[in-house]
Amino acid sequence: MEGNSPEIVSPQTGPHARLDEVVQRHRDHAWRAPLHAPTVAQFARWQAGHDRFAPLVVDLGCGHGDSTLGLAERHADARLLGVDQSAHRLARLAPDGFAVHGRAALMRAEAATVLRLLAAHGLRIDVLYLLYPNPWPKPEHLMRRWHGHPVFPLLLANARRILLRTNWGTYADEFAQAAHWLGRAADRQVLAPDADVLTLFERKYRSSGHARFELVSDDA
Ligand SMILES: C[S@@+](CC[C@H](N)C(=O)[O-])C[C@H]1O[C@@H](n2cnc3c(N)ncnc32)[C@H](O)[C@@H]1O
Repeated sequence: MEGNSPEIVSPQTGPHARLDEVVQRHRDHAWRAPLHAPTVAQFARWQAGHDRFAPLVVDLGCGHGDSTLGLAERHADARLLGVDQSAHRLARLAPDGFAVHGRAALMRAEAATVLRLLAAHGLRIDVLYLLYPNPWPKPEHLMRRWHGHPVFPLLLANARRILLRTNWGTYADEFAQAAHWLGRAADRQVLAPDADVLTLFERKYRSSGHARFELVSDDA
């Protein structure tokens, strides 16, 4: 598998024609979907041991969780939270769906509910990592991408810095365009082929020679 990962194929050759309309609708209308109940319970467990005065770094969609543990080295004074919905992916580092490794906690949970709970409890995210989110490259799946999701306005509002990496340039372009509609600038760059690797998926993409895009957006 390593070095043999197929490139993302999509009929979209640029940002989705309906992106602006979707983002503006989410900006202008509050999202009232019910919270994901198992995530509420997981969050309470995490919060009970969380130091709310330490900087908070979140690795959303952390997969196996190795990236979250690695990010602890980049953020020496922070508490880290890795979130993934997949029990299978978390089986090694959080076999019971919740585990603490030094300053990093790994939690099986639904990401949008975690974002809503953090905001509701006044827990601002210092750095939010979105590392190789599922690209959902079919045009009809626009709303499954983070910037097309109803949680996007809150995702932006509650994070001082967002760092996205993806191997689909259109995803990064759309994210930047959607952030713009919410008054937030974003810088996008293509990473050098030998640039550091933060995640297991990224290692595979680098070995396969994929372009890797990084987008950084700081609160003004
Ligand atoms: C393509 S993988 C990338 C994993 C990891 N960030 C990496 O780069 O190795 C995307 C991950 O996001 C997780 N995910 C997708 N949607 C999620 C959601 N709504 N809540 C929690 N995790 C989610 C999936 O389970 C999967 O592990």
